[in-house]
Amino acid sequence: MQRPQRGLLHMMTPFFGFVKMFVLVSRRFRKQSTDSFNYLHFGSNHPWHTKRNIPYSLARRIRGIVSNKGHRIQSYLELRKRLITKKYPRPLIDDALKKAESTPRLTIINSGASKNAKEQTNITTLVTTHHPVLDKIGAEIITISARAGLDCLKGTKLVHAKRQPPNLKRLLTRTNIFTKPKKGVIMCNKPRCGLCIHGHNNLLEGESIKLKNGKVITANKLINCDSTNLVYCIICPKCSEFYVGECKTLRARMNLHRNHSNPGNITTPPLKVNQHLKTCADGHFLVFPFHVVHTNHQITREAYEKHFQKVLQPTLH
Ligand SMILES: *[C@@H]1O[C@H](CO)[C@@H](O)[C@H](O)[C@H]1NC(C)=O
Ligand SMILES: *[C@@H]1O[C@H](CO)[C@@H](O)[C@H](O)[C@H]1NC(C)=O
Ligand SMILES: *[C@@H]1O[C@H](CO)[C@@H](O)[C@H](O)[C@H]1NC(C)=O
Ligand SMILES: [Zn+2]
Ligand SMILES: [Zn+2]
Repeated sequence: MQRPQRGLLHMMTPFFGFVKMFVLVSRRFRKQSTDSFNYLHFGSNHPWHTKRNIPYSLARRIRGIVSNKGHRIQSYLELRKRLITKKYPRPLIDDALKKAESTPRLTIINSGASKNAKEQTNITTLVTTHHPVLDKIGAEIITISARAGLDCLKGTKLVHAKRQPPNLKRLLTRTNIFTKPKKGVIMCNKPRCGLCIHGHNNLLEGESIKLKNGKVITANKLINCDSTNLVYCIICPKCSEFYVGECKTLRARMNLHRNHSNPGNITTPPLKVNQHLKTCADGHFLVFPFHVVHTNHQITREAYEKHFQKVLQPTLH
């Protein structure tokens, strides 16, 4: 892992108009072996301890690089998604994210310094992505900087390092620093959450879903199990018929739906959707909460519920 200190991310459009690159100028560049494992598939046959450390070392890097909390959370979510597609176990990922987030940023930024405390020679490293053109430009920059005698480089030795195209950096630049936060539904992943993977697995994740009648619903915000003031869509996992409702607290409302859909309960539930789920799907259901209403008023929620019922034409009413 490269651990830049006082890292500056510079965007340069250098001498060649067609080349854009990111140059990371860092002090005391250290190379560690984990770098090449950034995208290691969890099923690969590398040693377990190596794979186990990957989520944490990636999360830790985000913790060190991204200072804005909102951007950082976005980075974590993106990293999480990617690791899940690489078959990393969710609890492992989530522990890693928690551990990284709870590490003070300064500890991460300074960790290289304390280890190298003995070597008091100050080295400033110019890191460029390995590429024939960039290699030349980098060498040129070193020469020019040395000649210019810049104040900021006084008492340090400037060296040039070439790195393989770093996937994490691509990830960060693509999703967080230069773009808006995403919208979509995501599990809270708390161990006791009834909605999530550890519970009844009711929540459908994603930015949008396509309904049985072909209509598409898209989340208007970032929504998770803890979200409130919502319009949601319940889908029967057996026949894909669906229902649109509103709620104040998603988790509480879904607990009630689960309760009322329970086939072990002989009382006939008041809502058609629950009657249906009880018989058609053995009480199971999927939910996609998709519209956050911006006030705390039931009347407003109901207005949106009506609107979406009209547009989406749910059948389980
Ligand atoms: C290295 O840099 C630090 C601060 O940037 C400075 O205090 C120290 O004197 C420098 N060491 C040498 C050997 O130049
Ligand atoms: C359903 O709700 C009733 C009354 O609110 C409660 O007593 C019961 O424990 C709940 N059952 C389940 C399975 O949640
Ligand atoms: C049984 O279902 C009824 C309505 O469907 C509900 O009011 C009641 O709380 C449920 N009871 C239990 C024990 O789940
Ligand atoms: Zn949850
Ligand atoms: Zn059904």
